[in-house]
Amino acid sequence: MRKALVAGNWKMNGSKEQAEALVKELIEGFSSGSCSLGKQADVAICPPAVYLDRVSGLVAGSDIKLGAQNCSEYCSGAYTGELSAEMLVDLACQYVILGHSERRALFSETDQQVAKKFETAKASGLVPVLCVGETLDERESGKTLDVVSAQINAVIDHLGQSAFDRAVIAYEPVWAIGTGKTASPEQAQEVHKEIRSQVAASNQVVAEKLQILYGGSMNAKNAQSLMAMADIDGGLVGGASLKAEDFLTICQAASR
Ligand code: 13P
Repeated sequence: MRKALVAGNWKMNGSKEQAEALVKELIEGFSSGSCSLGKQADVAICPPAVYLDRVSGLVAGSDIKLGAQNCSEYCSGAYTGELSAEMLVDLACQYVILGHSERRALFSETDQQVAKKFETAKASGLVPVLCVGETLDERESGKTLDVVSAQINAVIDHLGQSAFDRAVIAYEPVWAIGTGKTASPEQAQEVHKEIRSQVAASNQVVAEKLQILYGGSMNAKNAQSLMAMADIDGGLVGGASLKAEDFLTICQAASR
């Protein structure tokens, strides 16, 4: 059985003080037993980059792993404002979210650029969490699977058949992000199953192990029914990851 993963994407929210308070509440939730992960689930939080160092110190020794929200496709050098995968490793990050729809739409990241970032992240020892997903227009015109498949193929074309070994995919329908409109468990499962088949077509073993997360208005109420589906291995949680109680409830749903 695949272990579940719940990752909180804090996006560009909060202050240093709020980040510290949230982490402390989460650690308290896990250590008091109000949420117990057991061996079934991993939990990661992805704070804004400027808080990673501080949060890294706070989560050290706890059940909470650390992730970043982006990294450069370059290893080092004259790239003002960028952060390298190696720097994230230096702060004890284990995961990095790549190709989030907000980065694709607002910062013009292309499939090819995301594939390069994915390569650099893996080479540095990070586990990339590749985000894929369709817009509402694309879903309504029946293009969901084509869009998702092209986003995944860009990585396979660049890195070959084992691209998704030690990696995670997050299916995040753009129309469900931050809108309160969640994909139904059946809608999400349909896409997750296709994603796994697509990866299996190039590597069956990797596909069986691959954690495929759902993201898009996942919350304390709907997490359990989504994660009950055969190919949904956890969640990439935005808004609800900023409230300790809700995030802990989602983590608990993943550890059943
Ligand atoms: P929301 O959970 O706020 O919809 O955001 C999802 C997301 O974009 C996670 O990466």
